[in-house]
Amino acid sequence: MADQFNYESFFSANSQESTPGTVRHSKYDFAVAYPDPDNLPLEELIESVRAGFEREGRDLAYYSTAAGDPELRNLVAEKLNRERNMTVTADDMVLTSGSGEAIGILIQALTDPGDVVLVEEFVYLGTLNQMRRYGADVVGVKCDDDGIIPEALDSVITEQTDKGKRVKYLYTIPQFQNPLGWTMSLERRKEVLDVTGKHGIPIFEDDCYADLRFEGEDVTSFHSLDDAGRVVYAGSFSKIIAPGMRMGYLVAPKPVIARAWSFKSGGAVSQFTALTIAEFMKGGLNQHIEVQNRALAAKRDAMVAALGENFGGSVTWTVPQGGLYIWVKFPEGTDLAAVQEEIFHEGVSYYNGSQFSPTGEGSNYVRLCFGHPSIETIRDGIAELARILDSKNVFPA
Ligand SMILES: Cc1ncc(COP(=O)(O)O)c(C=O)c1O
Repeated sequence: MADQFNYESFFSANSQESTPGTVRHSKYDFAVAYPDPDNLPLEELIESVRAGFEREGRDLAYYSTAAGDPELRNLVAEKLNRERNMTVTADDMVLTSGSGEAIGILIQALTDPGDVVLVEEFVYLGTLNQMRRYGADVVGVKCDDDGIIPEALDSVITEQTDKGKRVKYLYTIPQFQNPLGWTMSLERRKEVLDVTGKHGIPIFEDDCYADLRFEGEDVTSFHSLDDAGRVVYAGSFSKIIAPGMRMGYLVAPKPVIARAWSFKSGGAVSQFTALTIAEFMKGGLNQHIEVQNRALAAKRDAMVAALGENFGGSVTWTVPQGGLYIWVKFPEGTDLAAVQEEIFHEGVSYYNGSQFSPTGEGSNYVRLCFGHPSIETIRDGIAELARILDSKNVFPA
C-alpha cells in the first residue's frame, strides 16, 4: 500500500506504535499458554452453531447492545452464582473479546498516568503490558505459596501513600496464578480483603483459570467474600473452550459497568460466537471441562516427573493443583533470560521470570506451560532443556 503521506503530526497523544505480535513455535513449546488442539470440542461446537442459528440466526441482522448477548450473560451469571458463590445478574456484566479486553477496559477506566497499581510479584504479561501502556506505575507485592502476603501488601500501600502516590487498585489472579501456579487460600483472601478495605482500595479479580482444577478443595472467589461492591471480576472462555473464540466478561458494580460500556463503542462482541457458546454451555461444556482437566492433570504429572528425572538438587518447582503452569526456580545467579533466544532456536521455548516482573527481576525462574504439548513432547522436551542448559554452563559455580 502507498505510504508517502506522513501521519506523524496527526496521531493523538494516546496512540502508540505497536506490532501485531509474532506467534513463534519451537519443537518443544513450553512458552505458550494454549490448550491442546486435539482436545478442542469441535464437533460439539459445530452442533452448537447449528442449534444457535436455527433458534436465533435471523437476529444476526441486528447489532447487539454494548453489553452483548443477554442469553449468554444470563448463562454466565448462573455459572458464576453456582460455582463461584457470586450473586450477580446479566445486568452486572459486559461481554468482552476475551478477558484481555475486560482487563484493558478496567485499566483504562481506573488508571491515570502515574497511578500506582498493585500486582502479585510476578504477573501475567498481557496485564503488565496493558498497565504500562496506560502509564501505570506497576508495583509487585511479595507472595508465598498461599498467595499475596497481607503484611507485605499493607507495607507497600502505606509506603506508596506516604510518598504521595495514589494506589488505584490491586489486580490479582487468585486461582492457579499465572505464572506462579498457586491458588490463594481462603484465609489469605479474607486478609487481603481486610487490608485493601482498610486503605479503601478496590480489587480486580482475574479468575480466568477458575475451572481448571484437577484436584484439591475449591476456594471461593474474592467477589463472593465482598459485600461492599469493592471487587471487580473478569473471566474467560479461552481456557475452557479456546482462546480463538475470543469471549470473556467483566462483572462489576453499576457505575463501573456504565463506564465499561463507553469503551465498547465499536460494538458488542460477535453475536455469532455468543450464540455458539450459549448453546455449548447448555450442552456439553461441563463434560468438556472434566475431560480437559483429566488430560491437563496427566500432562502436569508428566512434566513434574520429567523435571524430577532431569533436574536435581538445586532446581525446584511447583506442583499446581490446576491451571497450565509450572514455575521452576534455578539457583540464584542463573540467567535464563540471557540464553532464552538461543535455546528457542535450538528447539525449546519458555518464558523466564523477568518477563513477568514489574521490576524485571527473576531471570533465575522459568514458567513452563504444559497445556499444549503432548505427554511425549513434554518428556522429550524437558530432557532436551536439561541437556541444552548443561551444555551452556548456565549454572553459577
Ligand atoms: C491471567 C490471565 N488473564 C487473562 C488472560 C487473557 O486471556 P483471554 O483474553 O484469552 O481471555 C490470560 C491469558 O493467558 C491470563 O493468563
